[in-house]
Amino acid sequence: VEETYVMVKPDGVQRGLVGEVISRFEKKGFKLTALKLFQCPKELAEEHYKDLKSKSFFPKLINYITSGPVVCMAWEGVGAVASARKLIGATNPLQAEPGTIRGDLAVQMGRNVVHGSDSPENGKREIGWTYKMTQDTSIVEVPCRLRTQRHKPVRRV
Ligand code: GTP
Ligand code: MG
Repeated sequence: VEETYVMVKPDGVQRGLVGEVISRFEKKGFKLTALKLFQCPKELAEEHYKDLKSKSFFPKLINYITSGPVVCMAWEGVGAVASARKLIGATNPLQAEPGTIRGDLAVQMGRNVVHGSDSPENGKREIGWTYKMTQDTSIVEVPCRLRTQRHKPVRRV
């Protein structure tokens, strides 16, 4: 069965959208096989987005992804990779269809709430980083709670 990696980005965690994201994947019918609250180290963020290294927004992207804890998940199911991308919606939330996570919950490309693997191979690779590299304690044992406490509180209006 296919498995994909889905990550609630720091803005999604900070805005309290973890449950909403999980709920959409559960309702679709996928099976949650792993989950972790995780502070992404800079080196891993750079590896994750290495294909975008030449882009002008790359430093901002790395800054964004490492700005607070993320929630990493593995979801299993038939066609999970492509289906997750559909549920997530277009990269630019203003172009994402209503009914998708980004279409319903985001407005900015640089704050688009969630990541989903773009191929089964990348899904395996990305799941491996966060869950199966347990021997690498520098990656697994980062104290997320301390980071959360230092993180800027959500602005209330
Ligand atoms: P991910 O699921 O996060 O990988 O997004 P994606 O597959 O829909 O898009 P892509 O891999 O091309 O880009 C990765 C991330 O970089 C996006 O989710 C955005 O957060 C960010 N990004 C992509 N293009 C732009 C851009 O033109 N401007 C800015 N500010 N951010 C961008
Ligand atoms: Mg991508």
